[in-house]
Amino acid sequence: MDKILINLLRQFNPETAHNISLKLLKYAPVFPSVYKHKSLELKVADLSFINPIGMAAGFDKNAEVFNSLAKIGFGFTECGTVTLHPQYGNPKPRVFRYIEDQAIVNRLGFNNKGINNFLSNLAKRNNFGSPVGINIGPNKDSKNFIDDYVNLANQVHDYADYITINISSPNTENLRNLQNKNELEELIKVLVSSLNDKKIQKPIFIKINPDENKESYKDIVNLVNKYSITGLIISNTTIHRGNDLSNKIQNESGGLSGKPLFSKANEILELLYRETQGSVVLIGVGGISSGYDAYQKIKLGASLVQLYSAFAFQGPNLINRMNKELAQLIKKDGFNSISEAIGSGI
Ligand SMILES: Cc1cc2nc3c(=O)[nH]c(=O)nc-3n(C[C@H](O)[C@H](O)[C@H](O)COP(=O)(O)O)c2cc1C
Repeated sequence: MDKILINLLRQFNPETAHNISLKLLKYAPVFPSVYKHKSLELKVADLSFINPIGMAAGFDKNAEVFNSLAKIGFGFTECGTVTLHPQYGNPKPRVFRYIEDQAIVNRLGFNNKGINNFLSNLAKRNNFGSPVGINIGPNKDSKNFIDDYVNLANQVHDYADYITINISSPNTENLRNLQNKNELEELIKVLVSSLNDKKIQKPIFIKINPDENKESYKDIVNLVNKYSITGLIISNTTIHRGNDLSNKIQNESGGLSGKPLFSKANEILELLYRETQGSVVLIGVGGISSGYDAYQKIKLGASLVQLYSAFAFQGPNLINRMNKELAQLIKKDGFNSISEAIGSGI
């Protein structure tokens, strides 16, 4: 069934195919039953997950299909990136699919319908068993990015199980500067004090890019510890291209995701786990396309994982398949629960 669906969707350009997938998910009358196993259940940041596999940000930008994503087996969904005001994003075409490399390049630029539409969709939430994170970012023409984050965090906290501060998209000019030590400290300080003033207590994650030097990641760890940020999401797409990729990818600007990102994101995950040793929660994302890949990130220190590109290539049954595989891998290694496997490969 997935093969027929995927072949059909490949007839369309990637962005149209994505919009059709959203419609199919939204209006599907029935869903296959979700694979569940006790060993996959875990608690992270005081939230309960039936499994550690989440849908990464960018798939459900306007919070339209998170209920359906839970029904096909995702343990959680990160909706967004949402901005204060509706935004068209960059000119089309802006998403490129490379089947031979199992990779996607996108330069969407936070296309979304804005926070009001997003929150009215979230009000229809009925999947309370499956956590929903809200990923926030500034409008491209915002005069002050930090004000946008603070404003958004204050609006979304009631609807979110956790909030993600996205400072890592390569497609909004100057956004990644926020990953520099001084800028990041200013952002965290202002945001944390605004939430503290209102006694808002929500897990906060910062989603980082995979393209910095080691020192920069150590600076991030210091800040995250200093301000008691819940965790880091590693990582967003990369602007770099490996030499082994096809020419077409080399020439298309934007963020690269999928298989070619896997080892690069893993290196940073491992570095961060060694630096933090469990003091912050790490969510591993980048190039996961099987239960085995997810397990590798968990063994490198990820408490939860997310994926996007492989879902576009393999279709909805991937998630049940991955969870089954993950349960087998845990058992094979003699663990009773996925939590025992976190960081076990370090
Ligand atoms: C088409 C597309 C759109 C994306 N949009 C966002 C976004 O809005 N916000 C964000 O934080 N990440 C976004 N991402 C990045 C993903 O959340 C994820 O970090 C990245 O794709 C790596 O995971 P993957 O290799 O499993 O795709 C997007 C990725 C893709 C492919």
